[in-house]
Parts: sequence; C-alpha cells; structure tokens
Amino acid sequence: MILKLFKRLMFLFMLPVILPSTGSIAQTQSSIAQIQNKIVPGELWPDQNGNHIQAHGGGILKMGNTYYWYGEERRKGLDSNYRYVSCYASKDLMNWQFKGDALKMTDPHQLGKNWVLERPKVFYNSKTKKYVMYMHIDGQVKGMEGNYKYAQVGVATSDNPAGPFQYLKSFRPLGQESRDIGQFVDDDGSAYLIFEDRPVKGFHIAKLSDDYLTVEKEVCLIKAPLEGGAIVHYKGLYYAIGSALTGWQANPNKYATATSLSGPWSEFKDIAPPETKTYGAQSTLMLKIVGSKTTSVIFMGDIWRPKTQWDSRYLWMPLEIGDGKLWLPEPKPWTINVKTGECTSPI
Ligand code: DGJ
Repeated sequence: MILKLFKRLMFLFMLPVILPSTGSIAQTQSSIAQIQNKIVPGELWPDQNGNHIQAHGGGILKMGNTYYWYGEERRKGLDSNYRYVSCYASKDLMNWQFKGDALKMTDPHQLGKNWVLERPKVFYNSKTKKYVMYMHIDGQVKGMEGNYKYAQVGVATSDNPAGPFQYLKSFRPLGQESRDIGQFVDDDGSAYLIFEDRPVKGFHIAKLSDDYLTVEKEVCLIKAPLEGGAIVHYKGLYYAIGSALTGWQANPNKYATATSLSGPWSEFKDIAPPETKTYGAQSTLMLKIVGSKTTSVIFMGDIWRPKTQWDSRYLWMPLEIGDGKLWLPEPKPWTINVKTGECTSPI
C-alpha cells in the first residue's frame, strides 16, 4: 500500500520530465476533452482532431467491430476542381477518427465546373474482397436550365475501407434516371441500391450484381416522389423512409412498411410532427444496431446549410420502431452502447 502511494507520488513528481513541454500537456488535455460520450443532434460533431465531421449525405459500413462513415467532404478550403468523399472510423458511433479522403477526383464526364458528387455509399463485397462505392454523379450549372440532367450513379472500388478508391464508371441503373441514392443490406447479406427516379415519380429498390459493380434487377419501384431513401428490416417488417423533393429545404419525411421488399408497401405516413419538418433534417440512412440486449435503429439525417455546407449538421436519433410504426422522437443528447444495443439519454 505504502509502496503504491510512493510510486504514484514519484510519477507525479516525474511528470514534467516525462512530458517535455507545457504544449504536450495542453495537447494531452485537449485530446482528452475531445472524447465524446454522447451524440448531440444539430451541434458541431468533432472528430479526433476537433474538426467538425464532414460526412454529409452519408452511409455506414460495418466491418468487424469498426463502423466506417462515408460522406460528402465539404470542409472549407477544398480545391473546387475536385470532389471529395471522406471516411471516418469508430468503434462506438460517438467518437470518429478521420481516415482521410477516401475518394478525390476531378470531373469524370466533362459535366462542367459545378459538377455534382453526392450521397456516397460503400458496400463490402466478400467474394471479390473489394469495397465498392456508389455515388450520385450529375452536372449542375448554377441558375441555368438544363442542369442536373446527367442523373447517373458512379462506381469506385478499393482494397481498403479508407481507400484510395479508384473511379470506374457511371451508368443509369436499370436504364433509369438516378439522383439521390441510398444503400440497404438485408439480414441475409443481399445488397441493394435505392435510387430516386424523377420521370416515374418514385424510388427504386434494386439488387446489386454478384460483384456489386452494377445493378442486377429491380426488386420494387415505390411509387412515391421521395429522395434521401433509406430502408431497415426490423422484426420481420421492412420500413422505408424518404423526404419530399424540396432541394436543400427540410420537409416532413415519411415512412411506409411492407412484409417483403418487393411490396406491396403501405401508405406513407409522417415520421415526426409535420410542422417540425423532420426537425430540420433530411434522411440519409437507418442504421440497425443488433446488441446483446436489444436492437436499436438509428435515424441518420442531414441538417443542410446550403450556403455554408461545411457547417451542415447531423441529426442522429434512435427511432421508436415496431409493429408497423416508426417515429422520430424530439432530438436531444443521447448515448449508445453498441455491445448491448441500448440507447439512453444522458441526464
Ligand atoms: C436534395 C438532395 O437530397 C440532396 O442530396 C441534394 O441533392 C439537394 N437536393 C440539392 O438541392
């Protein structure tokens, strides 16, 4: 006991020697200060370096016990000739480590200065051992008619989750126009691309090919003009959510259910009080966490700030879900234990 106390005192006396400068102490303190023990919807969300996470319109891939969050990288000072997809890694969904730009590329199809790369989503193909990224590729000339007409998905692959991804091609899935995309991996491992199709006023659920490099077949066309499409399979029922087509402006997101992915799908209902316009957020994914005690489903949405995109925020909240009902509770700080699957609100 006395020996232990002596050792501790010695360690304290030795600290200035172990830490070479006050700068290091400050650094240690600031990195301690950056440990996140909760998710605070709508606030700045610092990564391990204290920078606001840049993974807008994102998606999640889980490999082992690591979650990878990919999204549109819109930090200040980026070279405007390029579009960037970021990759972050986490083991607890609260603390995220920036792994760098997973994809960085110039206009691949001569779409013009304001070309668009949005909503990147990454799948892992266990047969080819490739990470396969899908993204919305488009042309957009600000304020001009005839923009946003390319309407294709781009595909890039990598051998590593953090990239670098190599861009392969773009195409119109099933020959249809495709803008906002979403990803869904069913419990049997089958991977699907969700894509919004304006001419048919609906969104498609399409199965990916064996190598994930293309879209193999249509599973369902949900005849509802929705974007930001996301699906989760929870206790024997499929839940699909999406937002209305109001550009960057928030609107009341809606959900429908079906016992089979191919439908029939129920009517769409509000996921939150409509006057809150989904608390200012737009859906991008529903993340299912299967824990030892319970299964939680997290709504992942973007609170866009179109004029200051680098400052766009995130609304992540555990959903109230089950028996055909889905509800996004009023946002407030919360925590998750990914091992048990339990979500709680901090006091
Ligand atoms: C809504 C989409 O969901 C976003 O990803 C983005 O494309 C904006 N529209 C552009 O107005």
